[in-house]
Amino acid sequence: MSMLKPLREFADRDRVFDMVNPALRAPRLDVSHGTVLYLEDISVSFDGFRALNDLTLYIQAGELRCIIGPNGAGKTTMMDVITGKTRPDTGSAFFGQSIDLLRLSEPDIAQAGIGRKFQSPTVFEQHTVFENLELAMAGPRGVWSMLFARLNAEQQEKIDRALQLIGLQDLRFALAGSLSHGQKQWLEIGMLLMQEPALLLVDEPVAGMTPQETERTAELLVSLAGERSVVVVEHDMEFVRSIARTVTVLHEGSVLAEGTMDQVQNNPKVVEVYLGEQV
Ligand SMILES: Nc1ncnc2c1ncn2[C@@H]1O[C@H](COP(=O)(O)OP(=O)(O)OP(=O)(O)O)[C@@H](O)[C@H]1O
Ligand SMILES: [Mg+2]
Repeated sequence: MSMLKPLREFADRDRVFDMVNPALRAPRLDVSHGTVLYLEDISVSFDGFRALNDLTLYIQAGELRCIIGPNGAGKTTMMDVITGKTRPDTGSAFFGQSIDLLRLSEPDIAQAGIGRKFQSPTVFEQHTVFENLELAMAGPRGVWSMLFARLNAEQQEKIDRALQLIGLQDLRFALAGSLSHGQKQWLEIGMLLMQEPALLLVDEPVAGMTPQETERTAELLVSLAGERSVVVVEHDMEFVRSIARTVTVLHEGSVLAEGTMDQVQNNPKVVEVYLGEQV
């Protein structure tokens, strides 16, 4: 134990480095106008092919927004632009009033408060559910300190809250590798929550899930909105109908229609692009 003491002290020094971490000097998220994400006139070309074509889209603070659209419509590319993975050729992307996403690196965007859930879960299979959340709370910078520091009451509570939200309280000591596909997806959402994102992007969350898991995921995503904004891309229309307030339809890299599920499903332009598919 005595050997760990200096290590703990060293780990505590992490905090000193916060002052020199540029991400922490980034402007604070300002949603005083009620909008958490501004995408304006975004275009992205891949070898001359326009994956996004003057895309303009606004997400309100606390909103749960569903994005639908045929394969290749640009949904994932849009998420790549928001998270800094792909740089647009033109346009602007702001997180709140003042954070210019096009000037931040991918890790800085995550640090600023945008969390992204990819389709395949990337949990640490040999660690327990609890440990996965613990490691996620530390973030990439703090794994070292997390190994040597004891959790304080606040951190413990934060993990308990996440466990409750994702419905894995009873499985906290289970190895993540032993979870079902759906449970792993929820754990990964829980891991994202540990970083307290103000905006959560979720790409095709229910692909491969059982009907029960799909239903549970709908409840989970609905419960996450409000305190934070959630953008969900999904092809499963039944699922979208069950959670959607506002639906945005993307087609050929632009917004084709926006409104309630009923409004977009009855929009002739939407019916046309989905012709032959069940909307
Ligand atoms: N890195 C890339 N290089 C070249 N083309 C790309 C790249 N990423 C995406 N594309 C192309 O851009 C278009 C939009 O792709 P995107 O993945 O954003 O569509 P999507 O709406 O997410 O589709 P899906 O519903 O199938 O996931 C597609 O035609 C795709 O082939
Ligand atoms: Mg996609």
